[in-house]
Amino acid sequence: MDPVTDSLNEVHRRLRGLRDGKVADYIPQLATADPDDFGIALVSMAGHTYRAGRTDRPFSIQSVSKPFVYALALGDLGPEEVLRRVDVEPSGNPFNAISLEPGTGRPANPMINAGAIATTAMVRADGPAERFRRILDCLSAFAGRVLDVDEEVYASEAATGDRNRALAYLMHSAGSLGADPEETADTYFRQCSVRVTAVDLAVMAATLANGGRNPVTGVQVVPEPHVVRTLSVMATCGMYDGAGAWLLNVGLPAKSGVSGGLIAASPARFGVAVHSPPLDGAGNPVRAVAALGMMSERFGLHIM
Ligand code: DON
Repeated sequence: MDPVTDSLNEVHRRLRGLRDGKVADYIPQLATADPDDFGIALVSMAGHTYRAGRTDRPFSIQSVSKPFVYALALGDLGPEEVLRRVDVEPSGNPFNAISLEPGTGRPANPMINAGAIATTAMVRADGPAERFRRILDCLSAFAGRVLDVDEEVYASEAATGDRNRALAYLMHSAGSLGADPEETADTYFRQCSVRVTAVDLAVMAATLANGGRNPVTGVQVVPEPHVVRTLSVMATCGMYDGAGAWLLNVGLPAKSGVSGGLIAASPARFGVAVHSPPLDGAGNPVRAVAALGMMSERFGLHIM
């Protein structure tokens, strides 16, 4: 076996018995996840995939979609307008907090729910169907294959998504949401329900690490300057109220999601993804945080 796969297998072996954390259950369909699912995938700049554990298990992308849709919005509206509508400051609050600027309703950053919902509304389209199609096309181009929606997760999100609808309405009432609040929340629920595997997420992370060019398909998905902005926001805000400790310990731009997915990008080196459903108190997947900590120390991945 090659040395990269050896290392991934070793990290996997050391962490698979870890029993900390809890599978998310505030979206009922997420509670059906197997807490023992644990896969690590890494994609190099040459487009080679390395894997350990269960890397082909499908799961919903959830918040890991946020940086990719942010990159899409940067292309649609331009960086200045996007910044005018959504700030880039860590909120220090949980992912579902009402982190809106008093008066303007401008969300703190695009990685928390409020900012992500505002970002979804920024994707240029004639209506919600076209908006979601463009989001799905973008996520698919990052992954290098045609992705689809887990309709059961979508139905479950839509049935229990009042807090996200409330965020959309708050922003709409403050004039900071550029589209209809119900339609935008619905598009956001669909976006979170897009089905991926750890390998898909690793290709997506590798595309960010590669300046926006998918290293497997060779397609330039988004322009490099937009990737630089996206990775910067991931570095400071991608791990929610765990972002400071993450940057200290791992030192890579990253994004987590409540279904247990996590991506990290080592610029010009590789993209890595971990899938493991049990989450810590900040909503970050426990084994993934531990795995990246181990890998960062062992291979000197810290960008500082
Ligand atoms: O909006 C929600 O609550 C979910 N659809 C996604 C949140 C999420 O993944 C936060 N991650 N830790």
